[in-house]
This record gives sequence, C-alpha cells and structure tokens, in this order.
Amino acid sequence: MDLPDALFRRAVGRGHWPPYSLRAFVGGAQAFEEAGSWFVDELWRLGLLARAIRIGDIGCGCGRVAYGLATDPRLRDWNLEYTGMDVDSASIAWCQTHITPKNERFRFYHADYGNPSYNPGGTVAACVSAFPHPSGSFDLVLLTSVFTHLLEADFRHYLAEVSRLLAPGGIAYTTFFLYASSAEAAAGASRHGIQFPFLRQHHAVNRLDYPSNAVAYEESFVRRVAEDLGLRIIEPVRYGVQDLVAFTKVPAEKDQVALASGWHGLEKDGTRWTERKFAVFATPPPGHSKLRFRFYLPEILFEPGHSVRLSVDAEGTQLGAHEYDAPGEYVYSADVLASTSDPILIRFELSIAYGPSTIDERELGLLAGFASEAGPLPRRLQPFQFQPTQRGH
Ligand SMILES: C[S@@+](CC[C@H](N)C(=O)[O-])C[C@H]1O[C@@H](n2cnc3c(N)ncnc32)[C@H](O)[C@@H]1O
Repeated sequence: MDLPDALFRRAVGRGHWPPYSLRAFVGGAQAFEEAGSWFVDELWRLGLLARAIRIGDIGCGCGRVAYGLATDPRLRDWNLEYTGMDVDSASIAWCQTHITPKNERFRFYHADYGNPSYNPGGTVAACVSAFPHPSGSFDLVLLTSVFTHLLEADFRHYLAEVSRLLAPGGIAYTTFFLYASSAEAAAGASRHGIQFPFLRQHHAVNRLDYPSNAVAYEESFVRRVAEDLGLRIIEPVRYGVQDLVAFTKVPAEKDQVALASGWHGLEKDGTRWTERKFAVFATPPPGHSKLRFRFYLPEILFEPGHSVRLSVDAEGTQLGAHEYDAPGEYVYSADVLASTSDPILIRFELSIAYGPSTIDERELGLLAGFASEAGPLPRRLQPFQFQPTQRGH
C-alpha cells in the first residue's frame, strides 16, 4: 500500500505524513494528524505543557504525538525537550529524518526490546530493560496506546521505570483498557468495543496467538502497582474507547513542596507560575497547621474596576477564596488538617492569568513559597521588574 498511498498523499497535500505501513502499525492509518493533535490538545487542556519541560514518549511509534508537539505554533518558543523511543526501528528512522529536522529538540532512539506483536525478535526482554536515562530525567512521560500492548511482567517493569524517570511532581499520561471484574473483561466493556476473553492473573487478552495485540488490565491491580511504586493516580480516570490515566510521582518527604502542575519554572527567590490553575504537593506536619504562601500579584492582572480572585483547595476541600484589589505582595494563610504525613495536593485557581507567550514573560511573574505554622514565613520575594505592557498598565 505504501506506493499508491504515497501518490495519493502527495495529491491531497499529505506528503509529510509517514508511509502507510508505519501509520497502520500504530493503528491510525487514516488519522495521523488528527490523532496527534487530539493528544496535544488534551495535554493543553490538562495543563501538562509548560516551558522547557522534558518529555519522554515511550512507544512513540511513527511520531503522531511528537509531530503534533513539534509543529504546534503555540509551543514554538517554549523550548520543550522531547525524547521519543520505540522498539520499531523503521518508525524511529522515519521520525529521525522527518521530525528532528523540523525541531532539533525532538530526539528519537530505537531500543531493541522484545514485544511479541511489535518486535518479536527483540534482543532484550522488555521486562528487564533499563531506559538509558538517569532518574528524574522527565517532567512528563507519555505512554499512549502502549500499556494496551504490554503483558503483565513488561507492564510492571515499565511502570517502575516511569516512576524512576519522573521528577518529583512529574506526570505520566497513559492509556489503558481497564476492567473492573473478570466477567466484565470477558464480555468486553462496551466502551472499548473489544472483548478480552482470555484471562490471566491480573490482565486479559483478546487473542491467544498474538496476546500483545490488545491487553486489558484489572483496574484495582493497576492502582496497587502504582501505589507501591510511589505513583498516585490523578482522579478521575477518564473512561472511554481507551481509558485515560494520569499518574503523578509523589515527592519524597524531604521535598516539602513540589510542583504538581501549571508551573512555569523556578526563580532564584521562589517559584513562578503563569497558568490560571496551578498546584503543588506540600507536606504539612500532621494535625492542624497553617499553610502560608507569599506571592506577588503584578499590575498587569488588574483590569480597571476588577479585582483578582484566588481560590485554594487541599485535596478537594475548599480552603477559601480571597479577592485582591491592588497589585502587590500578599501572604495567603489557611488552616489545613492533615491526618497523615503524606504530601497533600494544594490547588490554586486565579481568576486571571496570562500565558507566557502572550506578553513579555517577565510581566507574568507570580512567586510563591511555603511554610507550615511551625516554620518561618516564606522569605521575601524579589518582584520582577515589570515592563510597561501593550495594555498600557
Ligand atoms: C498503538 S502504537 C502507539 C504509538 C504511539 N504511542 C501513538 O500514540 O501514536 C504502540 C506502539 O508501542 C510500541 N511498543 C510495543 N512494545 C513496546 C515496548 N516494550 N517498549 C516500547 N515501545 C513498545 C510499538 O512499537 C508501537 O509503536
């Protein structure tokens, strides 16, 4: 099909797509760009993209997601570092010759790990492979339609590697076929449109002759394995044709405050966010304690006659909302009752913010620090030198 497909693609302006055989290999021969941009939009929607993040795409195939990220005009100046790997050498070769030249921060490598369906002659068993990256190398790891092709030993090992590769507070965005009970697996959850009649211990397969063609997992098992590995599922799991599961790497206790999402980067005197919604993991001492954040609201956020509203919740419990009428430095303070010494997820939502590329990024600085009641207030911030803006503030 590759030759007629190439002629047809050229005629309809899709000459930049990978050959038919590579697209068919990842199951989306007709929807290379649509599928890729759906995933990229999804990463935007979930607030998982931020400047200079390091993305690892495991099982990247012929680059559906990479192509979408590398060509997204909104990300042009964001300096994302992307590394894609796959067990299929032809797909990797195509990505290296067609995507890297568009954006040299997008790198790809082939790993000869075995998969009964995708790389039967692999020289290294996937369940003992070690990804060639130091621990904490990535802020975002993607496995789209990959756990749906891994048998149990490989899945366990890959999830352990994901936990190792993620920086504290980093996120893994993954897809699965999940089932609640063996009866559901055998009958096939209607949302998946596929049956998994051959049950093994914690997973089930669609075909015995090609077991890794489609693999479903018992949801409670996935949850247990993740917890044992220090990964937490960001609820809710979104069930669909494939079930979308985001995991976050729970920071070690020593990392009292770790970035969870919506962050732009670290400044020397604090942490800066540029998203309207952002979150941290914080580890308050058990019992009642005060959570205090010192932050700076720049002038640009204030429309004439409008205040800026900040609402905060801890693990879904509202801590309260405050209105601020003027730019300046503030301390936000709220009581938190922590029943364990586990890190808790504190989420913030501002009524207004500006994306880093909208205006001079120096104007977007909002800085935060954290202290429990026992500790000192977060140290004073060095507010940015805010530049005059297009809006005349
Ligand atoms: C359905 S495709 C999805 C490709 C890509 N993630 C996407 O969404 O377009 C599954 C991919 O997983 C890769 N794969 C299978 N087993 C793998 C393994 N053990 N390690 C890494 N990749 C693997 C396959 O080669 C194939 O490219």
